[in-house]
Amino acid sequence: MLKSKKIGFIGGGNMAEALIKGLLSASFIEAKNLMVSDVSAERLKWLRKQYHVKITGDNRELAKKCDILLLAVKPQAMNEVLEEIAEWVDHKKLVISIAAGVPIKAITDRLSPDGKKKLGVVRTMPNTPALVLEGVTALAASHKVSAADLKVAHRIFEAVGKTVDVSEANLDAVTGLSGSGPAYIFMIIEALSDAGVKMGLSRDVSNILTLQTVLGSAKLAMQSGKHPGELKDMVTSPGGTTISGLHTLEKGGLRTTLMNAVEEATKRSQWLGQNSENNHPHKKKK
Ligand SMILES: NC(=O)c1ccc[n+]([C@@H]2O[C@H](COP(=O)([O-])OP(=O)(O)OC[C@H]3O[C@@H](n4cnc5c(N)ncnc54)[C@H](OP(=O)(O)O)[C@@H]3O)[C@@H](O)[C@H]2O)c1
Repeated sequence: MLKSKKIGFIGGGNMAEALIKGLLSASFIEAKNLMVSDVSAERLKWLRKQYHVKITGDNRELAKKCDILLLAVKPQAMNEVLEEIAEWVDHKKLVISIAAGVPIKAITDRLSPDGKKKLGVVRTMPNTPALVLEGVTALAASHKVSAADLKVAHRIFEAVGKTVDVSEANLDAVTGLSGSGPAYIFMIIEALSDAGVKMGLSRDVSNILTLQTVLGSAKLAMQSGKHPGELKDMVTSPGGTTISGLHTLEKGGLRTTLMNAVEEATKRSQWLGQNSENNHPHKKKK
């Protein structure tokens, strides 16, 4: 499905590299069918050396030569990039954006200012564990995207983890949960490791105990398919140690705090989306 396509990454940064690495290691596509454009010649040379992908410093050349255009620049650079490539993008190309907070409408308005092109755009929200091929990506497709093209988009992100479909309106909640989520988990990991040190464990031992507990618990929840409450009950014996720890977490409001965090991050994402320059298609980037 992907093997016959040419995928072009505009912006060869962290996320693009994670996707390239995933696609190649899963043998979803050959390196000769991947092209990357970036403003940094040095970065491009490094990507070519590392992954044997094609490179160009010209976003227009990439847009012209590739079937799938993966927009992987920071949101602030999007307007400039879209205006640059607009001439080369028609209904035969599939456009996929990973830029946070840039609405599908802002992308199509820039690529087709007169609204005449029938463009298929998939907007996505990946997360950083994609760097180790354990990411999760939510995809929201405009109604012009065919079922076959949506499948192709899923396939790309499946190379770096799992995928889910959501409506575009739900991407803010995705940002608040899985987009920002790695930072919440890293904070929890840091705190648990500190706690181990406080109780007399060495930092190294504390780190490995914490990391493997987080990894193993996620794997157990995923593979068993059991409700997390049931799994929690399995390690909670009457009058034992775990129930004392859990009681303390309840007193500290752990669940409420995490729910509030996701709610606040979602609201922030909504606010940023509404107040971003990308929502004003006729406003030029300075
Ligand atoms: N990292 C995450 O956790 C995450 C999660 C979800 C979504 N995203 C989205 O993914 C996108 C990329 O993030 P990232 O972390 O990969 O960023 P990044 O590492 O900064 O990558 C962006 C790359 O694009 C280059 N670039 C800038 N302007 C360009 C232009 N006009 N034409 C071509 N290339 C250009 C940058 O070069 P310079 O560095 O020289 O400017 C950089 O190499 C962002 O839109 C972000 O919102 C990221």
